Amino acid sequence: MKAIIYHSQSKNHRSKTIAESFEGDVFEIRSLEKNMSKFCTMFIYGYKTLFSRKVKFKKPEIDFSLFDEIVLVSPVWAGRVNAFMSNYLKEVKLENKKITIVGSCDGGYTKYFDSYNSLLSPTNEIVEKIIYIKGDRL
Ligand SMILES: Cc1cc2nc3c(=O)[nH]c(=O)nc-3n(C[C@H](O)[C@H](O)[C@H](O)COP(=O)(O)O)c2cc1C
Repeated sequence: MKAIIYHSQSKNHRSKTIAESFEGDVFEIRSLEKNMSKFCTMFIYGYKTLFSRKVKFKKPEIDFSLFDEIVLVSPVWAGRVNAFMSNYLKEVKLENKKITIVGSCDGGYTKYFDSYNSLLSPTNEIVEKIIYIKGDRL
């Protein structure tokens, strides 16, 4: 069975749409941070992503024993995995799973896939890496 875990932040909800295009059970990492202007969102979350700061989020309830495959879908922030997904992966240690990493971005994602290296245990197998640029492929 496959679990698709995503965070989505912009009003376009691209990562949510991408997550829902996979077959499996879909779970959201929900922000518990207050809403901000677009400028503040870029500035504050850009900073928090770059400097690995904490963000408040609601952890979805997942019985991982039911899932051998996990799809992680996240917007690219500051070229990397966004702060909500990285905070989540620091709290929830995935082990012995087949993992597909999916990114949603506007075109700049050079460090995106590598930024998962320190967040995922080597017991996992990365089976695919997929990037969506401005929602292409959808
Ligand atoms: C704080 C912040 C940083 C971002 N940094 C990048 C970036 O480095 N490269 C990029 O292509 N897009 C960047 N974006 C744009 C988003 O990755 C892109 O719009 C994504 O598709 C949004 O997904 P969502 O609708 O699921 O939130 C950034 C957006 C925010 C809010």
